[in-house]
Order: sequence, then C-alpha cells, then structure tokens
Amino acid sequence: MDSKFDVIVIGSGPGGYVCAIRCSQLGLKTACVESRPTLGGTCLNVGCIPSKSLLNSSAMYQKTQKEFNNLGIEISNAKINLSKMMSNKDRSVLTLTKGVEFLFKKNKITHLKGKGYISSKGTVTVEDQSGKKNNYTAKNIVIATGSITSSIPGIKIDEKNVVSSTGALSFDKIPKDLTVIGGGYIGLELSSVWSRLGANVTVVEYLDHIIPGMDQDISEEFKKILTKQGINFKLDSKVTGVKTVRNEVIIDLINNKNKKAEQIKSDKVLVAIGRKANLGEDISKSGILLDQQKKIKVNDKFETSIKNVYAIGDVIAKGPMLAHKAEDEGIAVAEIISGQAGHVNYDVIPSVIYTSPEVASVGKTEKQLKMENIKYKIGKFPFLANSRAKVNNQTEGFVKIIVDEKTDKVLGVSIISAVAGTMIAELALAMEFGASSEDIARTCHAHPTHSEAVKEAALAVDKRPIHFLIFKNDKKSNDPSSWFWQKNSPINTTNPKTLT
Ligand code: NAI
Repeated sequence: MDSKFDVIVIGSGPGGYVCAIRCSQLGLKTACVESRPTLGGTCLNVGCIPSKSLLNSSAMYQKTQKEFNNLGIEISNAKINLSKMMSNKDRSVLTLTKGVEFLFKKNKITHLKGKGYISSKGTVTVEDQSGKKNNYTAKNIVIATGSITSSIPGIKIDEKNVVSSTGALSFDKIPKDLTVIGGGYIGLELSSVWSRLGANVTVVEYLDHIIPGMDQDISEEFKKILTKQGINFKLDSKVTGVKTVRNEVIIDLINNKNKKAEQIKSDKVLVAIGRKANLGEDISKSGILLDQQKKIKVNDKFETSIKNVYAIGDVIAKGPMLAHKAEDEGIAVAEIISGQAGHVNYDVIPSVIYTSPEVASVGKTEKQLKMENIKYKIGKFPFLANSRAKVNNQTEGFVKIIVDEKTDKVLGVSIISAVAGTMIAELALAMEFGASSEDIARTCHAHPTHSEAVKEAALAVDKRPIHFLIFKNDKKSNDPSSWFWQKNSPINTTNPKTLT
C-alpha cells in the first residue's frame, strides 16, 4: 500500500469523512484513519443516526397508543418487540456506514484501519487491533477525532447500569425507572425514547431550566410539553453521587436552592452532561497546543500550533458540537489546504432536538442580543393557528423570529413544531442571504404547510399576521398561547377557530 499522501485525515466522523471526500474531489491524494471497525464516527455508529432510528420507532409506537384511535384507526394489541427495534436500528447504521465505505472507494480514498496519531512531523502512525504499527507520511494532517462523553467526578460509567448515550441506545429491556442526568440534547432525546416505550423517566438538571443555550420561552414551553408527555423533571439539582447496589442504582442529589438532599432509585442511569474533546495521550507529545477548554487551539484557517496540521469538529472550541458544523468545517479545511478560500459562517448553524415535537433554532437568542446590546423586535406565530398543523393534530409549539429593530434583518429564529428540524433550513438560508422579516413575509409559502407559520411569524414582527390576532395587552406572559390573542377575542385558546 502507498504510504505517502497529500492529506491524512484522522477520524472518519461527519467532519473527517466529509473532509476526505472534499480533499479527493479537489485532486488531493487522501487517506482517512479510523479506529472503529466501521466508518462514520460517533454520529453514524452510536450517536445521531441510531438515536433517530429509536426516536422514530418509539414515536410510531406512541402514535398507536395515543393518536391512531382519534384518527379512526383502531389497533388492538400493539406490542413492542425491542430486539426487532434494535435490529432495525443496527441495520440502518450498517447501511449508512457501508455507504461511507462506498463513497471512499469511489473517491479513491485510502481507508487506514486502526488508531492513528501524529508520531513525528508529517508522519501518522496507525496501530491496528493486533498492535501492529505502520507509518504514513502526509503534506497535511487533519485531526477530526470528535468527542467523548463527560462524566461527573466520582461517577463511573459502566455501560450496564450507569450508561452514556452509547449504552442507552442498546438496553436489552425497557427500564422500569430511568434517571437521566442532564437536560440537554442527548438527555431529552433519549428520555423521549424510553418514556414512550414505557419507562418512568426522571431528568435531573443542574440549572433551573432545560436546554441551556436555547431561547428561554422555547425552553419553558418545551419543558411543559415534555412534562405533559410524562417525563419528570428535577431542575436546580446537583447530583452528588451514584452507587449501584445489586441491580439498583441510587442517585443522591441536592437542591441548589433549598439545599434539601434527596435520593432517587432507578434501574438505569444515563449520564448526559455534555461531551469533551477526544484527544489521545499522544497529543501533548505532538506539541499541539490546547486552549482553556482542553480543545485544540486553531486559527481562522483551522491551523493548529503546528504547521500543516489542522483540526476540525468537536475537538476545537469554535461553534457548537454538532455533526453538520463539523461537516462544513471539513469542506472548508479541504478547500483551504488546496489553496481556496474555505469558510464557515458560525452565525448561521442550525441546531435541532429530534423529540416530538422537535425543537430547532438558528442564530442568536434574546439573551445573547441583550448581552450584546442589540435592540430587536420579535414576531411569533403559534401552530394552533396553522391549518396543516391543525389537521395533523400537531398544534403544539410556535415560530419565533427575532429581527434587528432598525434594519429588520433576521438575527435568530426558534421553532417548536412536529417538523421544526426540517423547517429551520428555510431560516438558515434566509439568514445566510441576510434576509429581513419583510423578505420572508413577501415570499409565497405553499398552503397548507407548517412553513406558513414562518411567513406568519415574519408578518407578526410588524403586527400583521393574517390568521391570528395580536394580543393587545402587552403583559409579559410565559404562556405562548396568550401572547397572540387579542383581549376579548372571540377565539378561545383551548379550542381555537382559525381561518384558513
Ligand atoms: P448538552 O450540553 O446538550 O446538555 C448537558 C446538560 O447537562 C446541560 O443542560 C447541563 O446544564 C447539564 N449538566 C451538566 N452537568 C450536570 C450535572 N452535574 N448534573 C446535572 N446536570 C448537569 O450535552 P449532551 O446532551 O450530553 O450532548 C452532548 C453534545 O452532543 C452536545 O454538544 C450536543 O450539541 C450534541 N448532540 C446533538 C444532538 C442533536 O443535534 N440533535 C443530539 C445529541 C447530542
């Protein structure tokens, strides 16, 4: 096998494999090192993809229990076959990882199997499963080794009773009680899966709100919806210890405000308190400098402190730890290496939580704008008044558009909706083009679609939505259903009559 390359990418997650493909498209002789048996990294193997499979299956099951009857579809005896559900998930994962393998072959990318690390300037050593080491040289090296689960000091993840997301994606039976530490992306997606399948789920969150980083009213509304679905929350609570006694896990927590101690007993505990950069012990030997967050320090061109060594994705501090951010960085760094102007717009990176309903956002939150002293206006539109959402019985949630008070430029958007993850793409595109709410309001949106709520929210910035009345009494309320209603409106919020 050839051992000299223009580029060696270490890691084949969404950042690494996309970078390798783009490098190859640009005519660079490329290799990609991967230590897992299959390509695709955490995202494809034990992250985004398998979790979406279980989210989809569990949502289907829940529909048979809670929704189908109302639609006139009577199903008796719908049963969960967990091992079949898991096999379906594993099949999807396998198909997609094989897909990346196929793309590597077609793009003539060399797949180096084993654990790769920079052993000297321009050299990557790859150690295979048997411990055999091979050296490869490259003019450029891209580190895309992703991230690993963080844990609380003193709490050992055994992937049996105390699990990370990896363990929670392959329980062999539905836990009776599941405690989830962390009310972020992973915690809430997996809480939804197991709660829908019948587990009694409690989320313990250190802060006084869930999904930190998202707009406050989105976080509040989302918590209300998940509570209604049966998920229990213990906010403002610090986990002080987790111990396993026989097959039961005892979680000790303390309330941050009243300092009251409490114990929860569970059969399983999921630790989902964030992720940290996946850096081998060899990183310090290689001379690559890290920042305060223990991530690789890079400049605007993704260059590390060592010439011709680049880093992208979860191992760097720029942007959120999201697969699509890593993909965009992979493309940008490939273009930079080949002398082009690669670029990522960190102001417009959408994020999505794939629950039911979904939560999606892009751009800035109100809190960020306040901190930056930027004056803004808001337009909101509830799905209660969207005809498609209404006929689909998906009326939870709303669209919230934040614009610059003077220029009307869209600065941030948040959506809670059954299809928020798909809808947010329109807003990311609008923001990429520097759109104003007026631009969105003037764009014809197909009827009947959930996306009409985006147009209506844009119209609401200027207080002129068509299918809703603006709440005249400007009292600040956390209940989204009251924000939009005119006082003494003939339309009642629990049973709204919308105009279509
Ligand atoms: P996260 O950062 O989204 O949430 C972690 C939560 O744990 C936070 O709310 C935090 O306040 C809380 N927390 C931290 N320490 C705690 C403690 N000691 N006790 C109780 N609560 C504590 O992290 P998460 O959910 O683990 O996800 C990791 C990464 O993976 C995220 O950066 C996310 O962007 C990414 N991800 C994205 C997904 C998506 O795009 N749909 C799905 C899954 C993960």
